[in-house]
Amino acid sequence: MGQIVPDAVERYLAGLNRAGDNVLADIAAEGARQDLPLVDAEVGALLRVLASAIGARRMLEIGTAIGYSGIWLAGALPPGGMLFTMEKDPERAKTARANFERAGVAERVGIIVGDAQVTIAKVAGPFDLIFQDGSKPLYVTLLDKLVGLLRPGGLLVTDNVLWDGEVVPGFLERPPRDSADTKAIAEYNERLNAHPQLVTATVPLRDGVAISVKRL
Ligand SMILES: C[S@@+](CC[C@H](N)C(=O)[O-])C[C@H]1O[C@@H](n2cnc3c(N)ncnc32)[C@H](O)[C@@H]1O
Repeated sequence: MGQIVPDAVERYLAGLNRAGDNVLADIAAEGARQDLPLVDAEVGALLRVLASAIGARRMLEIGTAIGYSGIWLAGALPPGGMLFTMEKDPERAKTARANFERAGVAERVGIIVGDAQVTIAKVAGPFDLIFQDGSKPLYVTLLDKLVGLLRPGGLLVTDNVLWDGEVVPGFLERPPRDSADTKAIAEYNERLNAHPQLVTATVPLRDGVAISVKRL
């Protein structure tokens, strides 16, 4: 459970969310055992709704981990659609590959192993939707590049923009996390919301999800 939405509300939303399946539930449990910061099912459902709403055919994700959010995204792809997802940790990428196979979406997903700062040069746009969920200091570094890869009308979705409330001055008495990450996210939020090519709204779901649409 996060700090932003009260636990009772998160439990209520989780109880309503029937879009998940056993494979996703198994992967979420595996992620919890490994203490991996995966999105939860509510954010997964939001990703699927957004991708479906814009009829996304080409998507890019930064930060595959073991494939959980990727499965939610890939589930929205029409036949012939493709998700490219970037992960720097080869072991996680290997597990993700197995999980994409278990979920029946492997043929629609290309995993790009390596540091996204380098591998981003290997992909060509335009993408309909980009999900940014990699390391937080990279958010600002990659912002303009990702905007350049988006088609006009496409969505840039960013997870963890409220960082358990730590970016909100005074929200927590003693912020427990690395303040370098907190500063990186605070700077990203300023730039994202002021970006001349984007219109952004932030949904305070779980750890905060920013949804930005590229201006036409
Ligand atoms: C928050 S987790 C991703 C969770 C995943 N999106 C999900 O919800 O199922 C972040 C992942 O980004 C990866 N990562 C961090 N820095 C990266 C980089 N520079 N390039 C590629 N991947 C990176 C980490 O290894 C980690 O697996």
